[in-house]
Amino acid sequence: MAIPEHFLNELRDRVGLVDLVARRVKLTRRGREHTGLCPFHNEKTPSFTVNDDKGFYHCFGCSAHGGAIDFIMATEGLTFPETVERLAADVGMEVPRSAPRDREAEERRKSLYDVCQIAADWFEGQLGGMAGKDALSYVQGRGLTPATMTRFHIGYAPDGRSAMKQTLLARGLEEAQLIEAGLLIAPEDGGDSYDRFRNRLMFPITDAQGRVVAFGGRALGDQRAKYLNSPETPIFHKGDLLYNLMNARKPARDGDTLVVVEGYMDVIALDQAGLPYAVAPLGTALTENQMTALWRIVPEPSLCFDGDAAGQRAAQRAAQRSLPLLKPGHSLKFVALPEGDDPDSLVRAKGTSAFTDLLHSSLPLSETLWRMQVMNKNLETPEQRAGLRKDLRDMVKEITDSTVREYYGDHFKDRLNKAFAPSGTRSDNAYNSAYGGGPNRGGFNKNRQFGRHQRPSYGRLYAPPIAARSGLGQGWKADTYRRERLLIAALLNHPNLIHEVFEEVGELHLSSPELDNIRRSIIEKATSDAPLDLEGLRNNLNSSGMADATTKLIAELTGPGIAKLDPLARPDATLTQVVKDWTNVSRWHQLEDLRREFEAAEVNLGLDLTEEALGRFSELQKAYNLAKADAIKIEDS
Ligand code: UTP
Ligand code: MN
Repeated sequence: MAIPEHFLNELRDRVGLVDLVARRVKLTRRGREHTGLCPFHNEKTPSFTVNDDKGFYHCFGCSAHGGAIDFIMATEGLTFPETVERLAADVGMEVPRSAPRDREAEERRKSLYDVCQIAADWFEGQLGGMAGKDALSYVQGRGLTPATMTRFHIGYAPDGRSAMKQTLLARGLEEAQLIEAGLLIAPEDGGDSYDRFRNRLMFPITDAQGRVVAFGGRALGDQRAKYLNSPETPIFHKGDLLYNLMNARKPARDGDTLVVVEGYMDVIALDQAGLPYAVAPLGTALTENQMTALWRIVPEPSLCFDGDAAGQRAAQRAAQRSLPLLKPGHSLKFVALPEGDDPDSLVRAKGTSAFTDLLHSSLPLSETLWRMQVMNKNLETPEQRAGLRKDLRDMVKEITDSTVREYYGDHFKDRLNKAFAPSGTRSDNAYNSAYGGGPNRGGFNKNRQFGRHQRPSYGRLYAPPIAARSGLGQGWKADTYRRERLLIAALLNHPNLIHEVFEEVGELHLSSPELDNIRRSIIEKATSDAPLDLEGLRNNLNSSGMADATTKLIAELTGPGIAKLDPLARPDATLTQVVKDWTNVSRWHQLEDLRREFEAAEVNLGLDLTEEALGRFSELQKAYNLAKADAIKIEDS
């Protein structure tokens, strides 16, 4: 009972020889190969080598030789069918029950590879010919060199219903084969079959062994789909393959760097820019099989996503999906592109180093997961924090490997404790530790709608973690009045502060009329030449007929009770620190304004369900989210 060759190939692919052997033999990597002490004879120096690319092992001492299946048969004494059953079960494949027609199917499959290769050659020829003139200038316009075009066998599928069909039939290929290979479409109503790819730039897709199995075609005209891929065929399962894996494997291993990008053109542009270690999924989210294939090459492949919201979602999905697959030593890294760029446009505009710099700033999986969980969450009350803890626990439960799971559990526990340690036992700010903080990107925009203008070029998910900060307390974040008092007290106790934050004070919205009185007096004084001393301020208030309550408040905010307030308000804090902390608090204060606005719009939307109300609500919500992301990011500058 023959087991079909294609099944065995896929099985060997999925099992991964190195992983299999490593369960019995301690292997060390040496270049492309792994070596260790031979399990088949006694030796003191390693002469047993495993080559994962080629899928075989060889012992230079005793000449033992074979692939994954041989290895299990030899080391566990199983028969061939038993071994196949065992390995298939390991990787979740089902051994096909062989039918009498198997040989025939096997033959057909073989010929499908031939058909795809013939088609690839023909497409490639077309790009150099008359029909491909415009296509060629398009690719040239995108900066690809002739060498790159040849390396990737880029081709052109001419316009017209059956240009390819006619030629390949005339060469003796069968229509049925062309249909099975996905090159022709056979209409369901029984009409004539026609070329699937028309007026498209063609990218041949190869399997792990370098055989052409499918195509991606980029529209050059006004076709509906920008990219059209071959359908699933007996030799092409798009969830199992990665574009360029065959070429990227060696450079990736040699440089211990493997990058997953989104598009074919990204892979090609990176290769031409001297970065030959990029691969791309085929128009879908990264599958489990694709992740496993990546890990067979390097322990920590980098996933590169767009800096926009969709890119962040894709990153989160990939992070989530990787959890059940994690193994000790295997992880993922996450790289975010600046919004509006893809790797292709980035290396073309800013050069190779722009991309490698990004790679060096990639985030580990653990950091990405943490940020995923704390993002857009209020974490002020015990219940909210308990919710976060539960979410983190649930996430960790997704990890199947017990060692990795244990480490992740400890890691997040530790992080939570650090983030929310009771005040007084730490010097940093819980929010900063929770959210990871971020670099200051050009300071604080004075416009109250700063979220709309000051978009971060990287999503918050990607802001690099940052060290602890000053002694600014926490309570002001949840308590508007306390925040307002803090802002004003700081201005009163640091007469020079107003000159540093003049515009911000001008735009500060305070809900307490007394505090707002003081704010206005401070501004008034600051615009006159007189120094802002407390005595002068009091006189100013009195002469403008301010109520007693306001003067009393000033006394309170500048009196001995101030020691109980945050360090920011105390006269002994340094001006630099005070400016920084004050700006931080005022930024959060503005955020609260925005939040109230968007919540009001939400209430309004409930009363008045119109397009207009919806538009206003979503605009405000978006502005709020952006502003919040910014605030968190800048906070720890
Ligand atoms: P992009 O739209 O980012 O295209 O799709 P690109 O690769 O940057 O191509 P250019 O620069 O516009 O030429 C990224 C990938 O998503 C898949 C393709 O695999 C593409 O390379 N895709 C995209 C599809 O499968 N179908 C589509 O219609 C669009
Ligand atoms: Mn692109």
